Amino acid sequence: EERLKLVVVGGGGVGKSALTIQFIQSYFVSDYDPTIEDSYTKVCTVDGKETRLDSKEAPHHTAGSGSEASLLLVWTRLDLFHEVQKFHTQILRVKDRDDFPMVLVGNKADLEQQRVISREDAQAFARENRIHYMEASAKNRYNVDEAFMELVQIIRRF
Ligand code: GTP
Ligand code: MG
Repeated sequence: EERLKLVVVGGGGVGKSALTIQFIQSYFVSDYDPTIEDSYTKVCTVDGKETRLDSKEAPHHTAGSGSEASLLLVWTRLDLFHEVQKFHTQILRVKDRDDFPMVLVGNKADLEQQRVISREDAQAFARENRIHYMEASAKNRYNVDEAFMELVQIIRRF
């Protein structure tokens, strides 16, 4: 059986727990309960192949070091974009690589009226840095499974 590890990273309150719980348990957590430590496992089938996904959550400052787990990098379009840029650079430096399996998720897509970063700017950043970018909403269950599945596909190709 294939077994993959991933870390869901991003700043406080961006929706790391909400996305993960929507993916694993199919419901939306509307209360904000900051995570101390959490890990989840889900067996899923991607491209006809079963995989066991071990997922845990981490704040920005811990994500780069140590483990070989790939990254679901979560932010919201409400954030300042340079934080994502800084973090991405830092990951590659710590991993000592030009490329690392990750998907950039722009969560809270349902809050369109509060958007700060345009879709075009986010896409341009993703293209320049060769990261796969998706907009998602844990609330509306939009692109939630897709984001995790995309990461599995990227890990397999890496
Ligand atoms: P920490 O564990 O503190 O790092 O936060 P987190 O990144 O795990 O955020 P969490 O999932 O707890 O979500 C923070 C708040 O944002 C909660 O009140 C969620 O209900 C809300 N939230 C998460 N995702 C979405 C979304 O897609 N849309 C909307 N409208 N709210 C969301
Ligand atoms: Mg959390």
